[in-house]
Amino acid sequence: MNDKIIIFDTTLRDGEQSPGASMNTAEKLRVAMQLERLGVDVIEAGFAAASPGDFEAVSQIAKQASTIKVCSLSRATQNDIKAAGEALVHAKNRRIHTFIATSPIHMEYKLKMTPNEVIKRAVEAVEYARTFCDDVEFSCEDAGRSDISFLKEITDAVIAAGASTINLPDTVGYRLPHELSQMIATMVEFVNNRAIISVHNHNDLGLATANSLACIQAGARQVECTINGIGERAGNAALEEIVMALKTRADIFAPLHTGIITKEIYPTSRLIASITGIEPQPNKAIVGKNAFAHESGIHQDGMLKHRQTYEIISAADIGIEADTLVLGKHSGRHAFKDKLARLGYELSEEALNEAFDKFKLLADKKKEVFDDDIREIVANEFIKIDEVYELVSLSAAGSNKAHTSAAITIKNEGELKSDASLGNGVMDAIFKAIDRSTGTKGVLKDYQVRAVSSGKDAMAKVTVKVKFEGAKTVTGHGLDVDTATASAKAYLNALNSYLCKA
Ligand code: KIV
Ligand code: ZN
Repeated sequence: MNDKIIIFDTTLRDGEQSPGASMNTAEKLRVAMQLERLGVDVIEAGFAAASPGDFEAVSQIAKQASTIKVCSLSRATQNDIKAAGEALVHAKNRRIHTFIATSPIHMEYKLKMTPNEVIKRAVEAVEYARTFCDDVEFSCEDAGRSDISFLKEITDAVIAAGASTINLPDTVGYRLPHELSQMIATMVEFVNNRAIISVHNHNDLGLATANSLACIQAGARQVECTINGIGERAGNAALEEIVMALKTRADIFAPLHTGIITKEIYPTSRLIASITGIEPQPNKAIVGKNAFAHESGIHQDGMLKHRQTYEIISAADIGIEADTLVLGKHSGRHAFKDKLARLGYELSEEALNEAFDKFKLLADKKKEVFDDDIREIVANEFIKIDEVYELVSLSAAGSNKAHTSAAITIKNEGELKSDASLGNGVMDAIFKAIDRSTGTKGVLKDYQVRAVSSGKDAMAKVTVKVKFEGAKTVTGHGLDVDTATASAKAYLNALNSYLCKA
């Protein structure tokens, strides 16, 4: 059996199913390119049949990926599989992932199909998927609650039909490590190298990582996971946790290994948090803000004497560099470019010029510019969407909510438009003024503000989730040292993203 664990990342599919995590095509492309850099083996780029936007995102990623295998999910239906096959047509390496539920409760109540009908549908799906590509993965949805004898029967049938990976998800995050370990060991023995056994664990009981590791020990050779563990409900197994557990406990797991470049873990985690607006909890393993913070005096003393007294992973191993070179308004282009290289960014000349201009504007307002400030500036350069509306100026007055007003000027196709509104507080006035000047009406679903780095003059990063007419909720981001301006930029960014998708 192979010692390499295949890392199948589903941040763009299951991860995107997290409430409020939806991304536009430009953002998905940026994530896909970063996942390639991270060394992921297979990327589930989306669910091509779900919407024209999803189809477009999968096909753009398929065109641009160079080494990574690109995969699309599809239910076991002709339409879904056709959409997946067509979206992937330009990929150098591609896979279709098709699935149907196999647990008694799903078959009886959700599918209203008999087990024999489910097997027939699964076989037809795999055979049809094979007409589009050689690499077909089949998932037994809710395998964790399926009968083992039925899992064997359907697995036999889909392998004969041409599936080369059999995924056994604990869809509802119900199982404990020893139970999944037993299921996987039985299936590995049964399959006997005719296909790779994959696992896909949800985190409803907080066990997704532990379950995935137990499955790997039992013989699974593909693990499905997401960055920061985002995903449906309580999320999926977190890529960074599985990879770092395998590496840190090589004494137990070797020779098992992954191809992940661990120094890219932290930049990838920040990118996902920045795009989705979903910050990992501060005490989240590996990538949480406090994961390498030592607060108690006893711990700090121990750390100073010997780091390994309280540290099992070095922050540098996952790409967190000490912020030694802080930039400021006297820093030149060379220092800025050097900093970008150290943070792992390679920008085209044009993007570098734009990012440098933004850095200079920021450095005029803010004494010290930290790594996290630079990451945010650069994230914007990579994710370009058409700026149908651009903020030119904003003035908001009155902290007394009865007398709050905002006046705004925006640019639309070269033309300046100004408008003003009263509001129930500053943000309400700003968003209403934008609605008036653009002739749209958005409903604000979520509003978050975060200081990007430390200091009273820290840049504010505002993330809004807005529902525009006839569309899914879209996310927008705005960055500025002034929170009101950052909020206006975030709202306009959401509107531009909505107009790009429409
Ligand atoms: O959780 C699950 O069962 C899934 C499948 C579609 C693989 O996401
Ligand atoms: Zn899932």
